[in-house]
Amino acid sequence: MIIVIIGAQWGDEGKGKVVDLLADRFDVVARYQGGHNAGHSVYVGEKAFVLRLLPSGIIHEESTCVLGNGMVIDPKAFFEEIDQMTAQGISITPERLKVSSRAHLIMPYHRALDHTSEERLGNEKIGTTLRGIGPAYEDKAGRRGIRVADAMSPELLKLRIERNLEEANRIIVLFGQQPLRADDIYNEIAPLVERLRPFVCETSHFLAEARKQKKRILLEGAQATLLDVDHGTYPYVTSSNPTAGGASVGAGIPPHHITGVLGIVRTYATRVGEGPFPTEMLDEEEDMANLIRQRGNEYGSVTKRPRRCGWFDAVATRYAAELNGFDSIALTKLDVLDALEEIKVCIGYEIEGKRVDTFPAVSNDLRMIKPIYETLPGWVSETVGVTEFSKLPEKARAYVEFLSAQIGVEIGLISTGPERDQTVILKDSVMEGWFKD
Ligand code: IMP
Repeated sequence: MIIVIIGAQWGDEGKGKVVDLLADRFDVVARYQGGHNAGHSVYVGEKAFVLRLLPSGIIHEESTCVLGNGMVIDPKAFFEEIDQMTAQGISITPERLKVSSRAHLIMPYHRALDHTSEERLGNEKIGTTLRGIGPAYEDKAGRRGIRVADAMSPELLKLRIERNLEEANRIIVLFGQQPLRADDIYNEIAPLVERLRPFVCETSHFLAEARKQKKRILLEGAQATLLDVDHGTYPYVTSSNPTAGGASVGAGIPPHHITGVLGIVRTYATRVGEGPFPTEMLDEEEDMANLIRQRGNEYGSVTKRPRRCGWFDAVATRYAAELNGFDSIALTKLDVLDALEEIKVCIGYEIEGKRVDTFPAVSNDLRMIKPIYETLPGWVSETVGVTEFSKLPEKARAYVEFLSAQIGVEIGLISTGPERDQTVILKDSVMEGWFKD
């Protein structure tokens, strides 16, 4: 069984908790795109783990974790995270963590270029995480990137650094910054690459073998659908493909071997960084945004940036369901809405008085959208920790059912708090089957 798990909105939907819940039932958890721009928070008892590069499955000692070929890996961040996890009592060995030889490395000049690129864009900046993700993918597409396998040869690593830096330095200097020195970069990266060597693996072959042995594989998407470089709110996107198709490419798994796709959807929407956000709570709704931000702890788990908050957007989520082919949805953060007397849901879009039925491709069109809202009554009572659907307040159940009907996909799991056991699994859902199988 191979299941892909993907955020349906702009990220931070609560994937970390859901992957952590499912990881128990899976033998292998693999990431297939992105890098340490991700930030997944997982709470286990008193312990809080923040995962950036590593799949959330790493917390389960029985799971084997994979960083797939579609990822961009900063070797420094990789070992910082490993050391942090080790300090928190998680044992990480090459037996349980495999890094694709075909993944690309994020180099120090990629970080510098992420800064200059944002500076150049000025008011139109993307609001990236400044981790060098975009420039690393640019080098990959430009066929000059340094892959993990290439870096294993010290001569090749040195040569590629020197050659790539020549170009990178031209831009860095143009922006009034000190040029970087190839020797410094090599001396910083070479020991990290040596430390990486035992983790390196032909991961697509490893995954193919695991599948043959009937192992259960979870493919964990980072970022989310609306940040996808092809399908998201371009150019305000990340540089990879979090959508389901990206899982096949980024893990090296044939598409028809994927058994199911799980979408993670939050009961409201958030976004970090710049870019259009049709249902954003602005102006007179700022108090509501503050309430949600505070109740939902909507601050970046890595960057600590306050997240922009908005109402649930059914048009965008339908688009995500269509692109990814969700078989089931995990609805997170129901309890965050406990305090609200009324809850708005965007059920349609209008631009200049005209109804828009599809998700617009152009960011400026998205900015002009007037959301059509339906207002539902809040339940104004506690749902924290509820584990059975029938025990939720009637209005909360109606809200969940309304969202499911709007998206056109079952909601198979509802999260009622950050802890593992604060979860409802809906009876007879596809999701329940994945837990049982
Ligand atoms: P980059 O991935 O650092 O290039 O950033 C591109 C856009 O994606 C920015 O708007 C970031 O805020 C957003 N982004 C990147 N990673 C995440 C994530 O894990 N959660 C939410 N937004 C993200």
